[in-house]
Parts: sequence; structure tokens; C-alpha cells
Amino acid sequence: MRIIKTKDYNEMGRIAANIFFAQITQKPDSVLGLATGSSVLGLYENLIRLYNGGDLDFSRVKSVNLDEYIGLDGKSDQSYRYYMDNNLFKHINIKPENTHLPDGLAGDMGAECKKYEKLIESLGGVDLQLLGLGLNGHIGFNEPGDIFEKYTHIVDLEESTIKANSRFFANENEVPKQAVTMGIKSIMQAKKIVMCVNGEKKSKILKEVLFGVITPKVPGSILQLHPDFTVVADEEALYESDRL
Ligand code: GLP
Repeated sequence: MRIIKTKDYNEMGRIAANIFFAQITQKPDSVLGLATGSSVLGLYENLIRLYNGGDLDFSRVKSVNLDEYIGLDGKSDQSYRYYMDNNLFKHINIKPENTHLPDGLAGDMGAECKKYEKLIESLGGVDLQLLGLGLNGHIGFNEPGDIFEKYTHIVDLEESTIKANSRFFANENEVPKQAVTMGIKSIMQAKKIVMCVNGEKKSKILKEVLFGVITPKVPGSILQLHPDFTVVADEEALYESDRL
């Protein structure tokens, strides 16, 4: 595990973008595992900046996203498809057909989960996986539980997650109660993983993720076992870890 401490959010975004820059430069047909949320927005802004400067080419890159809400259309501005299109894809030269997210409107969600697993497999797995961290320790939408769910699956979102994510919706009632997410095995099979974490409110859970017991009650704790795991976090998020 590598921990890169940054002075603030902006530096976190720049450094994480540099890791993606190196990946895409070295392997132009990389499969990127992508994430949504506020922690990774700065990274996307920096990737767009590097692309606009002529330093990055996404024409051969493929992407698979971690998760999607169930019941939201890709055109709904709260869907993760909309987030990805508007915060990254439409600003770079990635081919739309090379960008993948689970379909939150699939008629048969069980079949959709299997299809997504097959898709990841057919792409040859993920080269570089990006993660944020939920306040309850979730990665993707793998909520705390009694087991590590291995494969892409449907989740009932925790009350605390619904509350945390309601900041993006008109009110809490509008937040979908379910989502579809890549499982822990799919995430752990990525060749490299980068997690972005910022802010004082994540400090306690980040310490548990990085140094606590490895347990499905803190899903991100499994990352301690990954052979190439880098955390890029600001000083505030690392405050509790620094006190160890
Ligand atoms: C959502 C996503 C996660 C993300 C988390 C943290 O729940 N499903 O993949 O990591 O939010 O979001 P934020 O970065 O906004 O704190």
C-alpha cells in the first residue's frame, strides 16, 4: 500500500490524474475502472486539462464504471451515466461505445449483473481502478455487511448512504433505494487501484480502511490485501491515520 498525502483537494486531483496519465501513456488501450462522486471530480478536471493540452489520447481507452442507481435513466441528471458523460466523456476523445456502466433500467437486473461480469472479463479485466470512499467504508456501492459480495450485484442502499448522497438530489425521497455495483472480487482483480479521499469527515473511516481489521463491515478494508493499491488523500482525511 502506498499513501500519498496532499495538502488539499486540488493537489489530490492533480496527483491522481498523473497516475492515470502514466497509465494511459504506457498502455494507450488501457481498461480504466471509473468512479463517481465529488472526491474524483478534481481528477477528471485534470484529465480534461491534460487532454486539451494535447498530452493525452483516449481514442483506444475503454472504461467500466463501478456502479449505477437502479431506476434512473441515463439521461436523468442524477444517474451515474449522466455524471460520467458530463464530467468526463464528452470533454475527451474516448469513443462512446467504449464507455460502460451497468444499466440501471434493465428489465432483468440479475441478467444485467451477469452481463456486466462477462463484459469486464471480455475486456481482459481492469488495468487501473479508481475508487472513492463512502462515509460508511463502502467502495463502489458495496455496503457494509456480513460477507464480501464477489461479483456484480444489486444492493439495498444503507440509510446513511441515502442521506449522504441526497445532497445531489432535490430531497432524500428522490434518492433510489437500490443500486447495482461491481463486486469486491471484480474490484480486487484490477491490476492497480487508486483511491481518492478528502476531507475531515472521512478521516475516521479512512483510518479503519487502511489500518483496521479486514472485515466486510468495512468493505474498503479489503484493499489492504491488494498488491498495487495507492491512496491519494489530503491532510484532513489522513488526520486520524497520522495519529496512529
Ligand atoms: C457514492 C459512490 C461511490 C463513491 C461514494 C463517495 O456512494 N457509489 O463510488 O465512492 O459515493 O462519494 P463522494 O466522493 O462524493 O464522497
